[in-house]
Amino acid sequence: MQSIDKAVEILRQGGLVAIPTETVYGLGADASNEVALRKIFSAKQRPIDHPLIVHIADFSQLQDWAVEISDSASSLAQAFWPGPLTLILKKAPNVSDLVTGNQATIGIRVPRHPVALAVLKAFGGGIAAPSANRFGRISPTTAAAVHEELGGAVDLILDGGPCEFGVESTIVDVTGDNPVILRPGMITANQIKVVLKKPVMTKQQNAPRVSGALESHYAPMTKTILIESAEDFLPKISALQLPMALLSQKSLVITNPKIQFVQMSNNAKNYAHDLYQILRDLDKKQLQQIVIESVPHEAEWDAIRDRLQRASQ
Ligand code: TXA
Ligand code: MG
Repeated sequence: MQSIDKAVEILRQGGLVAIPTETVYGLGADASNEVALRKIFSAKQRPIDHPLIVHIADFSQLQDWAVEISDSASSLAQAFWPGPLTLILKKAPNVSDLVTGNQATIGIRVPRHPVALAVLKAFGGGIAAPSANRFGRISPTTAAAVHEELGGAVDLILDGGPCEFGVESTIVDVTGDNPVILRPGMITANQIKVVLKKPVMTKQQNAPRVSGALESHYAPMTKTILIESAEDFLPKISALQLPMALLSQKSLVITNPKIQFVQMSNNAKNYAHDLYQILRDLDKKQLQQIVIESVPHEAEWDAIRDRLQRASQ
């Protein structure tokens, strides 16, 4: 409880607090304080025109940040908040351009992690929080990973354990007639369709301003490639490509000591939970490459497929 009070005090003074959420750790600042918001961009080395997600304690605060809240937006919030869903809505007039990247819209969500909710409730206002990594890198899913990424640039890191989901929230634009998924997450297009009974569009290349839609994003430093089949790939590797790591869902027996095999889960939720931490650990091992076997084409794997594609670009 003491650390929650400390976090609130730092936020009120315009400082930065790393906060655990159910998706990934966020780098939080008071969303109504422009001095504090600027610190987010410099800590992350993030371009100033990339919009931030505002986190709120509950649905009743939505009207402080957004206007023209459609029935679709309300239904999705009722169904999935608190949870890993970010809504894109028309921004309220008083919202800082630093939050929205000068756009007319705002991204907003109620996270589900008890620590994030406790901070939000005690703070009372909105907390702008991008993922707590340096720009372009893998999002942190543990407090130790935040420390590695941002260290001294953060005033306080709240440790809420490993994140439940391990990939960032689903972002859905609800400003038009039909919802558009801007970034897939563990809440799938189908789950959204079931709630709204409307077609759901997916627009990967929609907005250049969605930093997660830039080509090389969520990427390890080590060269990372995606392959269709490990059995087809393995006989063709040369000594120059070693040492390497191989991530596959199959249980393969690999005898070459220069190939570090990581067996990934067949369950999408478990796979997502583990992925970023595994990539982060492998990135420290001076490998020539990280080779990842592609995942199933079913919808529940959409977010993972998306992140694997970005990691390998
Ligand atoms: O799960 C998450 O969403 C995590 C946790 C901390 O909440 N946050 C996160 O933030 O992933 P960030 O900044 O790393 O990614 C947020 C994405 C960015 O790609 C940003 O461009 C997009 O949301 N975004 C924010 N506001 C937007 C807007 N008004 N229109 C379009 N995209 C927006
Ligand atoms: Mg991010």
